[in-house]
Amino acid sequence: VSELFSQQTLNDPLSFYGRIREQEKLVYTNLGDVRFWIIATSYAETIELLKDPRLVCDRRNASAQGVEQPAYGGPLALFSQNMLGTDPPDHTRLRTLVSKAFTPRMIERLRPRIQQITDELLDAVQDQGHMDLIADFAYPLPITVISEMLGIPSADRQRFRTWTQDLLAFLAAPEKMAEGMAAAETFIAYIKALLGDKRAHPANDLTSDLVRVKEQGDSLSEQELVSMIFLLILGGHETTVNLLGNGVLTLLQHPEQLRLLQHNPDVLNPAVEELLRYTAPVSFTGTRWAREDIPLYGQVIRQGDVVRLSLCAADTDPQQFTDPQTLDITRSVNRHLAFSKGIHVCLGAPLARLEGQIAIGTLFQRFPHLHLANEQEPLSWNPVPYLRGLQRLAVAF
Ligand code: HEM
Repeated sequence: VSELFSQQTLNDPLSFYGRIREQEKLVYTNLGDVRFWIIATSYAETIELLKDPRLVCDRRNASAQGVEQPAYGGPLALFSQNMLGTDPPDHTRLRTLVSKAFTPRMIERLRPRIQQITDELLDAVQDQGHMDLIADFAYPLPITVISEMLGIPSADRQRFRTWTQDLLAFLAAPEKMAEGMAAAETFIAYIKALLGDKRAHPANDLTSDLVRVKEQGDSLSEQELVSMIFLLILGGHETTVNLLGNGVLTLLQHPEQLRLLQHNPDVLNPAVEELLRYTAPVSFTGTRWAREDIPLYGQVIRQGDVVRLSLCAADTDPQQFTDPQTLDITRSVNRHLAFSKGIHVCLGAPLARLEGQIAIGTLFQRFPHLHLANEQEPLSWNPVPYLRGLQRLAVAF
């Protein structure tokens, strides 16, 4: 366990999970009381497993006969009553309610606003000549965008970071359960108050739309509504913070690639795709449950067992990517799995891509001499096992 999620592995997950892909492919591990399998296999087999009906997202569809898992009840149970914790037909019903808001065409309409937020964040630090890239740029950009989509008042946005960090820290260190539960309770109370406000004062935002859908029929329960808003807030920022932080760090560590980007703005889009592949901002899929016994790579995953697939192992498979350990921002064929695949493929991918392109493009255009401020300082990774992101990154320009 210590090696699977250590700071050293987070420094270079591609080599670590690449090695598991070449050797064991299947590892049984635990975080506190939670026991689970990690599958780190080839690109082709990862895709097959992502579509395998024996691996389900809804725990209720995998009546456990395997190892007993702690039944995180109360607030944590609520967090899985959304599309990521369900299978069809519930998954289809929940995803359909919001999918229109996230199509590439709808997201493209946000371009001017995303550019404006980016410019304002960079204006605010321009004169001081240095910033914490995470706190001053990578966090506020995506949280502002998703909050505006959901109609969340701007003053409240800073709070999500602490709640999210406490919630996710508890996944890495189960002894922090009390803090995790408290954060979950506070988060849920906040979402319920937000829903109350939208009921009283409907506005032109996604939360008001969902409230309206709920009032007009029985296609959404109150718990599903709370769980959906939670997933959109969490999925809408934590992941993109990691893309921006890891992406900027990686470009600074590969100055020849950065120069290429600065001299050819045309490579911006392929550069963001390569950073998604190479920096593993979301290193694993969400939880899958085995619906039946699954013999795999000489072992047996038991019915009811928990499984997670390593996306970065697939994304460094030499059968799929030429020279996979090399960062190549001009890579022309790059069907990476950073957003997963199958019915749970990331709903927010068009938004994440647009934010990544605008943020990274504008940052290096405006601050062409941006560099790491403390090159000697070891990197400090979030202690969150499934996402890979920096806690801070001091840069100067
Ligand atoms: C699902 C990655 C940004 C919302 C996923 C999954 C991955 C992922 C890997 C699938 C997990 C699985 O198969 O179990 C990322 C990355 C992002 C990002 C790398 C940024 C760089 C976003 C954004 C949103 C979002 C901006 C906006 C709301 C979602 C939702 C799901 C999801 C709602 C669940 C989809 C479903 O179950 O049908 N994401 N994501 N993500 N993502 Fe993202």
